Order: sequence, then C-alpha cells, then structure tokens
Amino acid sequence: MNNIEPQQKKLIQTSFARIVSRAERAAQLFYQRLFEILPEAKPLFKSDLQTQGIKLFQVISFAVCSLDNLDELIPLLQDLGKRHIKYGVEASQYASVSESFMWTLEEILKDEFTPDIRQAWEEVYQLMSSVMIEAAYSKTDA
Ligand code: HEM
Repeated sequence: MNNIEPQQKKLIQTSFARIVSRAERAAQLFYQRLFEILPEAKPLFKSDLQTQGIKLFQVISFAVCSLDNLDELIPLLQDLGKRHIKYGVEASQYASVSESFMWTLEEILKDEFTPDIRQAWEEVYQLMSSVMIEAAYSKTDA
C-alpha cells in the first residue's frame, strides 16, 4: 500500500503547489474534460461545480499532505468511497476521472509535467481510488 517513493512525494508536493495557485481554473478544466469523455456523469453532480471542484482539490491536497501518514488517510478514503455509491458513481468511472485529472495537470503544468511527475501522480490516484473502490464495491466488505 505504501508504495510512493520519497522522491515521488517531492515531485507531487512541488507540482501540486503550482496547481493550488490555479485551483479554480484547474477545477473548470477538470469538469469540462470529464463531461466530454463521460457525459453520463454530468447529471450525478447536483451542487455547483465550482464548489465541487474546490472540494475535490481539497481532498487531493489533503492526500498529498498525508502521503507520509497513510494510516490516517485510509479510513477517510474508505468513507469517501462509500459516499460515492450514494452519488450514483460506478467503479468503472474512476478511470475517466483519472484521465481528466491527468489531462488537467498537463494543461496547467505544461512542460513542467514531466514523465516522472505524471508517473508519481498516477500512483497517487491509483492508491486513492483503489482504497475507495475496494471499500465501496468489494463483495467481501458487507
Ligand atoms: C480519487 C477519486 C475521487 C475523489 C478524491 C473524489 C472526491 C470527492 C469529494 C471530496 C466530494 C465531496 C462530497 C464528499 O466529501 O462526500 C465528491 C463528490 C462527488 N463525486 Fe467524487 N471523488 C473521486 C472520484 C469520483 C468519481 C470516479 C466520480 C464519478 C463520476 C465522482 C463523482 C462525484 C459526485 C457525483 C459527487 C457528488 C456531487 C454532488 O452531490 O453534487 N467522484 N467527490
């Protein structure tokens, strides 16, 4: 579970600082892209996307800060994953969110989005989403 290397954590934390300073734009790009590749997700979002986007980035920023303390993060992600069932989210939709998120990082960071940074972010998303999906959809979790 704890498979994020110290060097990767640094890359994540530095690149995330650049995203946070442009969080509103990032949220806007993210949802635009998500609804392009996954139009059926649009009606699931009831609150306004600006608020929603900020929440998403808050959780990710919390995760970024918690990379050194994953034990605290896991129960929060498990609860978050379970809440997503109530929002009507399916496990298969996590891949589109990942794609939109990566695309947004690339749009914001441009040339600074190096293959190493991409790899590090993919691992963080993979880690977060696998905990959420496991908690929400695993049959053994009943
Ligand atoms: C690592 C992955 C994800 C993270 C960190 C994340 C984070 C969040 C957060 C923080 C909220 C606010 C509400 C709450 O705390 O319960 C939320 C709500 C929501 N998320 Fe996610 N989410 C993720 C994946 C997804 C996926 C794959 C979908 C599928 C389309 C999705 C759709 C939604 C919807 C529909 C809501 C409720 C919106 C509303 O009520 O208006 N999320 N998410």
